[in-house]
Amino acid sequence: MDIKITDDIKYIGVDDTTLDLFESQYVIPDGVSYNSYVILDEKIAVVDTVDEYKLKEWEEKLIHVLKGRNVDYLIIQHLEPDHTGGIVRMLELFPEVTLVGNKKTFLFLAQYVDMKEEWNTLLVSDRDMLDLGAHNLTFLMATMVHWPEVMVTFDATDKVLFSADAFGKFGALSLTEDEDWAGEARRYYFNICGKYGIPVQALLGKVKPLHLKKICPAHGPILSEPLEQYINLYDTWSKYEAESKGVLIVYGSFHGNTAKVAEQFADMLREMGEEKVVVVDLVRSDMAEVIEDAFRYDRMVIAAASYDAGVFPEINDFLYRLQMKNYQKRKVGIIENGTWSPSAGRVIKQLLEEMKELEIIEPMITVYSTLKEENMEGMRVLAIEMM
Ligand code: FEO
Repeated sequence: MDIKITDDIKYIGVDDTTLDLFESQYVIPDGVSYNSYVILDEKIAVVDTVDEYKLKEWEEKLIHVLKGRNVDYLIIQHLEPDHTGGIVRMLELFPEVTLVGNKKTFLFLAQYVDMKEEWNTLLVSDRDMLDLGAHNLTFLMATMVHWPEVMVTFDATDKVLFSADAFGKFGALSLTEDEDWAGEARRYYFNICGKYGIPVQALLGKVKPLHLKKICPAHGPILSEPLEQYINLYDTWSKYEAESKGVLIVYGSFHGNTAKVAEQFADMLREMGEEKVVVVDLVRSDMAEVIEDAFRYDRMVIAAASYDAGVFPEINDFLYRLQMKNYQKRKVGIIENGTWSPSAGRVIKQLLEEMKELEIIEPMITVYSTLKEENMEGMRVLAIEMM
């Protein structure tokens, strides 16, 4: 597929449709793309490479675009291996190439490869510039979006931002051409960069005044004007603000009884006029998507069975992940179930209390095995409080 960016900027990224799990964590039913770019000018710069599994395909594209010319600069924006598989190959092909990175780039690079004295390197800091001829590049440090060495590159001539992991999305480009951006970009953001809201805010502060025409991320489609829609979503996400009003009900149920309580509570909310209620069976769902929904909506209810004097294990895992991703600023209700000594609620509450700015809504509901009439008043009060 032909991906047009500008006259001088060419796409040489590749799709990966065979990888089972991204970062050995996240399902990617439509694959992922590793994006790499060439800026053709008096001097030629390549921005990032690809995962080593896709090296051959990337090299063919690179050679095709170069039309016999040499690469002068390889800009290394991020050291995670999904973007650096081609660095050594680039040096084999073009021994005179200059590697461009910051202090941490080279510190980390030396951990991955055996760096040679004869390699040319250019050490850059925040807002340092590189002149390619017609194109003038500015490097902006984007520390912790998603690793400490991350930097992004602004081409002032074409008003293009090479944004590394920021603004990335799951999905191979060849399979997701017509797909809505936000769905998989949101799942990508909260699971990959979600912990780093403050650094993302810092990056947005640098990027907003640039009047960008295009954003070229390290994964997913090239974004074109109007870019406000993407930047505004990133702003909302990185401030940990809810994107939509709605109640996410996440349940962990061994034999279906806690599931019935969750469904009944959802019906109660709907009858009270709640427009958006999403019910999720955690063990039969993609955990990363449930994490995404937890951040998307402004309220959440956790309904969980007790287990080994604790909580349903996947609910425990879910809460751990939410904490890792800095889940905050939400209203959360708790429904616990147990046959002899319900313990889920206590554990859920403890975990939630360790998170920032969460409002734990009372009353917590305790169900003994199956929902009874005696639970209904408490459920109604909780529903009212959640509205
Ligand atoms: Fe796509 Fe953080 O690497």
